[in-house]
Amino acid sequence: MTERKLTLTDSSSGKTLDLPVVAGSEGDPTIDITRLNPELGYFTYDPGYGTTANCKSDITFIDGAQGILRYRGYPIEQLAEQSSFLEVAYLLLYGELPSAAEKTGFERDITYHTMVHEQVNTFIGGFHYDAHPMAILSGVIASMAGFYQANLDVNNPEHRNLAAKRMIAKMPTVAAAAYRHYMGWPSAHPRNSLNYPENFLHMMFSVPAEAYEVNPVAAKALDLLFILHADHEQNASTSTVRLVGSTGANPYACVAAGIAALWGPAHGGANEAVLNMLNEIGDVSRVGEYVKKAKDKNDPFRLMGFGHRVYKNFDPRARIIRKACHDVLADLGQTDPLLDLAMELEQIALKDDYFVERKLYPNVDFYSGIIYKALGIPTSMFTPMFAIGRTVGWVAQWLEQAATAHRIGRPRQIYTGYGERDYVPLNERG
Ligand code: SDX
Repeated sequence: MTERKLTLTDSSSGKTLDLPVVAGSEGDPTIDITRLNPELGYFTYDPGYGTTANCKSDITFIDGAQGILRYRGYPIEQLAEQSSFLEVAYLLLYGELPSAAEKTGFERDITYHTMVHEQVNTFIGGFHYDAHPMAILSGVIASMAGFYQANLDVNNPEHRNLAAKRMIAKMPTVAAAAYRHYMGWPSAHPRNSLNYPENFLHMMFSVPAEAYEVNPVAAKALDLLFILHADHEQNASTSTVRLVGSTGANPYACVAAGIAALWGPAHGGANEAVLNMLNEIGDVSRVGEYVKKAKDKNDPFRLMGFGHRVYKNFDPRARIIRKACHDVLADLGQTDPLLDLAMELEQIALKDDYFVERKLYPNVDFYSGIIYKALGIPTSMFTPMFAIGRTVGWVAQWLEQAATAHRIGRPRQIYTGYGERDYVPLNERG
């Protein structure tokens, strides 16, 4: 089969260059531009990396036009319906669904790494009581490089695998401890008799004064949300983890950087911003006013939970979560006017030319907060919830990069500053 290529012609020099086209197993063909600078002396400019592939990956496939999301080839709809978060974690880390024995062994490994060094709780105690939990999460996970750096060789696959499992196991423990710090409650240690989402709910909400019964509806809803947030190819926070990982940095530092990137309202911080937006809108009668604001270029307001760099169709996760909102509220015997408001906002936006022309649909963050709120999780904890699920994707992508030959990430720039000029002594400046 003839090799597919693109031939570039430089109109100023008349030189031509054949650029090879690299085809993945699925998705758009990609031009390999590595010879462009050495042969023709050009760089490429792609602000926000909207059309730039920074790696090859076997982990997650997204087709933004069709609204397709698959983890290791399995459609997100099937995993959401039939799998569990730790089974999906195993799949994302190791590439295949586990056998019964592998699943049990992985769950046991995660369970037995859920505790943190007691000094971690001391560290958390040093934060101001109302520190945002994402500030605590990023700081504490980074600090784990100091607790677990002994014989952590990032070039040793076994050390990498242990670090990955430790982070998946400890993220809920730290996130729950951040919440308890705000509440002024004593720390709640993990219970090995509980599964992953049950343990998180116990660490979040149990108090010494009485026994805590995990609500199975809540645990099931959380497990689903963790599955849906687990990975999403090269999003901003995962690309951050890869970039930091490309320097050979400690894995805890890599994931702490990912947490920092996720915090932004344009990314994982959107789920918190959606609830704040819905509360600000307050009533269906004001939806039109806010849709108008979202369309106004002079107004910085954006419809939070809407739009996506890749999905130009419905985010399949948003569809699943929207249905789960109804199921969870019904199972908990709750109603939430914010759900009705969100659905009205969605209906109005999806009929508006501005959103239709720009292919702006609800994304994963638009409905997730409704469920977190129904489970009693405060808005400030919504992005840490995202981080718990996405830790699996961050470490899976970090492991994939660490196991393959790669170069340090180092983008270039278009320089627009001054040309060379001489230093001006202080007494000669204006
Ligand atoms: C996540 O990458 C991932 O995979 C992320 C994620 C994951 O799982 O990791 O899916 C999780 O981060 C989801 C996105 C959460 N963020 C939000 O909901 C915040 C609101 N959305 C926007 O800020 C925006 O849509 C982004 C950041 C999500 C995408 O931004 P892009 O791809 O840079 O799109 P853009 O800003 O170039 O927008 C294109 C046009 C612009 O208008 P024009 O200049 O063409 O006139 O659409 C407009 C934008 O102004 N637009 C919006 C809008 N989103 C885009 N206008 C109003 N409200 C919005 N929400």
